[in-house]
Amino acid sequence: MKFDTPAGTNPIDRMTVVGKPTPRIDGPLKVSGKAPYAYEHHDVPGDHAYGYILGSAVAKGTIRSINTARAERAPGVLAVVTHRNAGKLGKGRMNTAHLLAGPQVEHYHQAVAVVVAESFEQARAAAALIDVDYARDGGRFDLAAAKPGAADGTGSDAPSGVGDFASAFAAAPVQLDETYTTPDQSHMMMEPHATIARWEGDRLTVWTSNQMVNWGLKDLATTLQMPAEKVRLISPYIGGGFGGKLFLRADVLMAALSARAAKRPVKVALQRPLMPNNTTHRPATIQRIRIGCTPDGKIAAIGHESWSGDLEGGEAEAATQQTKLLYAGPNRMTALRLAVLDLPEGNAMRAPGEAPGLMALEIAIDEMAEKLRMDPVAFRVLNDTQVDPEKPERPFSERNLVRCLQDGAERFGWSRRKAPGQVREGRWLVGMGVAAAFRNNINQKSGARVRLSPAGGVVVETDMTDIGTGTYTIVAQTAAEMLGVPLAKVEVRLGDSAFPVSAGSGGQWGANSSTAGVYAACVKLREQIVQKLGFGPGDAVFENGHVQVGNRSADIADAARGGELVAEDTMEYGDLAKRFQQSTFGAHFVEAAVDRYTGEARVRRMLAVCAAGRILNPTSARSQVIGAMTMGVGGALMEELAIDKRFGFFVNHDLAGYEVPVHMDIPHQEVVFLDEADDKVSPMKAKGVGELGLCGVGAAVANAVYNATGIRVREYPITLDKYL
Ligand code: MOS
Repeated sequence: MKFDTPAGTNPIDRMTVVGKPTPRIDGPLKVSGKAPYAYEHHDVPGDHAYGYILGSAVAKGTIRSINTARAERAPGVLAVVTHRNAGKLGKGRMNTAHLLAGPQVEHYHQAVAVVVAESFEQARAAAALIDVDYARDGGRFDLAAAKPGAADGTGSDAPSGVGDFASAFAAAPVQLDETYTTPDQSHMMMEPHATIARWEGDRLTVWTSNQMVNWGLKDLATTLQMPAEKVRLISPYIGGGFGGKLFLRADVLMAALSARAAKRPVKVALQRPLMPNNTTHRPATIQRIRIGCTPDGKIAAIGHESWSGDLEGGEAEAATQQTKLLYAGPNRMTALRLAVLDLPEGNAMRAPGEAPGLMALEIAIDEMAEKLRMDPVAFRVLNDTQVDPEKPERPFSERNLVRCLQDGAERFGWSRRKAPGQVREGRWLVGMGVAAAFRNNINQKSGARVRLSPAGGVVVETDMTDIGTGTYTIVAQTAAEMLGVPLAKVEVRLGDSAFPVSAGSGGQWGANSSTAGVYAACVKLREQIVQKLGFGPGDAVFENGHVQVGNRSADIADAARGGELVAEDTMEYGDLAKRFQQSTFGAHFVEAAVDRYTGEARVRRMLAVCAAGRILNPTSARSQVIGAMTMGVGGALMEELAIDKRFGFFVNHDLAGYEVPVHMDIPHQEVVFLDEADDKVSPMKAKGVGELGLCGVGAAVANAVYNATGIRVREYPITLDKYL
């Protein structure tokens, strides 16, 4: 099915199952420990062995020699795989560095070997017996130092703008020119990257934890230089991803190589201490923002430049993305600059681009409002735009930023906000902050197969994933709504490359795209049902397990009496996204308190108002947003990968050293969804919300801390040393 004109009325609009707060259908399996995560597929046949990955001890250089003899003789060891005996390997399209080093080393903790043994402990002990002799090269590990040599982005990352930014900024009566920094961040999801690999002849099956089944499958085949048809990738449950599992990582490749070498199924969990340096991370940014305003508060010029680093061949963190679209203003300039660094590979982490971009932009907007002596909500409202400011002929499909801000201000008690440093409660300085939330909505082609059994049961199969987001539930809700059956009649099977290729989970496109694919397959199944029943033409109504056309009605199971009915389709998209800018909006309000003696910052209240199209399941959507708000607090106050700039690695590499919020850090969180249905995005009329919830939170916290203390910190995370 192709979606290329705005959606009319359709069966989803009834909203009898879709749109209703619905607990996760996979919840009982998860809380009872029965949902098999990657390392827990105990039914994989064969006598499992265990792999342990050895990471490079240098960031850049060459492996001169690698002596595995002692490791091979150690108790229980079955094989040691290194670049010398791994066979010829390719590199996946989505990988910047190779997943197995040698002889070149491209980054710290890049895998140099995997030891396979009868037990995990034996593999770990033997890995310590491998002698690697490195020739270490110097590298570039400091973004600030590499910044002058950074290159302009190309393609969609190329500098863009309209009007004449430089002259308009120079002429503006009120000016802001500030620089903000965000640090490198690690996904640090609960479940580490993990894989069980099993070969049957030349066919390979991997049980893993991957957000994008089809990307992973293709890149695994490319890396192993084998036909994709001979690989199966299974990823039914994922214990968090945040973008860290968008791509094939070393656990999958090393498990596959180990299993081939040991001639046994092999389990590999990427050790937690390898995660920050072996996998991807969100790159640090340096962002310069210039805004020029007229005294009445209209933006005349807005410029945003962002510098970030990555390995050769990598990409810039697209931190200027929202600045192209969030506020009006006739003269605009954005530029992304990429410095080549020899740190581990940078890549997508939840809301790549907008998350760090808004951490900077929305402080700048707060600062500008103060220069203008305007309320920051009023300043944002005044500079709203209903069209793409770079292409005024292109409207937003739906844009309710102003309502989010105004609704939120009302609910939060924003009118009680005082000037900076004015509210004291004992030793606490208390303040409020606001930030706009913005994240683009992207649709991805997505397929599904739907089966109707003779007993009236419905089974949905798609390689879509559930990274903890609630996919199982919204997919079931969609099929139940389309076929007029109770939720309990629908079984959802996800995360298997044997199923139709879906959108996968990424870029907050998962919910809308994958359910739209299920919608398409259900449309086909409905046609089959009506045809099988021999009903004439007319509008079919599917309700209470029955289908009715005109005055004829039957149990839908009757259509499958002669055998199961199976329908498969893929939702594809035309150029609506070119004609209408598709984005999601919100407003974050935060109350924070800062201890005036110690500088300890505590978030006291949080509110998010989101405008993100139809909300398919308010329960799981709220969970997404409060999780994202929590992540935003971490981004504002805690998260930072500390770099050893001499040797080129991230120093803090576990959950003790990489701080994220705990329950004690998170106060009452409130989430409000505006009642929207965006007919330009898909028949579901829904958009993404999981990343929107993070976008802007960091700045809202920063602005609240400023309002509390009167001290402006422009360098994240806002730790107490920075008030000095
Ligand atoms: Mo998201 S960073 O695209 O998983």
